[in-house]
Amino acid sequence: MTSRKWGGVAAERHLFEILTFNEVSEKFKNNFSEVEAVVAVGEPRDRETLYQKLKNAKIKIATLIDKTAKISPTAKIGEGTIINEFSTVHSQAVIAQNVLIDTFCKISHDIKIGSHSVISANVAFGGRINFGERVFVGMGAALKENISIGNDAVIGMGSVVLKSVENCVTVVGNPARVLTNSAQKVFKH
Ligand SMILES: CC(C)(COP(=O)(O)OP(=O)(O)OC[C@H]1O[C@@H](n2cnc3c(N)ncnc32)[C@H](O)[C@@H]1OP(=O)(O)O)[C@@H](O)C(=O)NCCC(=O)NCCS
Repeated sequence: MTSRKWGGVAAERHLFEILTFNEVSEKFKNNFSEVEAVVAVGEPRDRETLYQKLKNAKIKIATLIDKTAKISPTAKIGEGTIINEFSTVHSQAVIAQNVLIDTFCKISHDIKIGSHSVISANVAFGGRINFGERVFVGMGAALKENISIGNDAVIGMGSVVLKSVENCVTVVGNPARVLTNSAQKVFKH
C-alpha cells in the first residue's frame, strides 16, 4: 500500500492513505471488507458528514492514538477518535466518537467531549468541562474548569475562556468575548 504523506505522524505510522470518499469508493469498488478508516479533516461539520458516509458504507472505523499520548486507564475514547503526539487525557474523561485531538493538548479529569469535535494543538482544559457536539477549539486556547461549551461553538485560537459558551457561539480573546452568535465554518477558504 502506498501512503500519501500527511503531517499526522499517526497516519504514516499506521500506513493509512489519505483519500477522498469518492477515491475510496473507486479504489475498493465498494468492497470495503478490508478497509479501515478515520476522518482526516478539521472542520467539525465536515467530520460529521464524512463519518456518517463511512458508517452508511459499513466501513470499519479505526481509532488512532499516538504512542506518545498518555491516556488514563479510566478515560473512555470513542471510535474514530484521533489523539496526536504528546497529548494527555486524564482520569474519567469521556471522549465521544470521531473527535480529533491534535498535539500537546491537556484534557483534564472528568471532561466530556461530544462527537465530531476538533481540539487544535497546545490546548489546555481545566477539569469537568462539558463540551457539546461539533465544537472547534483553536490552537493554544485555555479553558477554565467547570464550564460548558455548547454544540457547534467555536473557541478562537489563543482564547482564555472563563465562562460557559452557548450553542453556535464563537468566542475570541482574553478574557473570551462573543464574536458571533450563529454557527460558522472555521476554515473559510
Ligand atoms: C475564531 C475564528 C474562527 C474567527 O474567524 P473569522 O470569523 O474569519 O474572524 P475574522 O478573521 O473575520 O476576525 C473578526 C474579528 O475577530 C478578531 N479575531 C478573530 N480571531 C481572533 C482570535 N483568535 N483572538 C482574538 N481576536 C480574534 C479579529 O481581529 C477581528 O477583529 P476586528 O473586527 O476588531 O478587526 C478564527 O480567527 C480562529 O481563531 N480560527 C482558529 C484557527 C486555528 O486554531 N486553526 C487550527 C489550524 S490546525
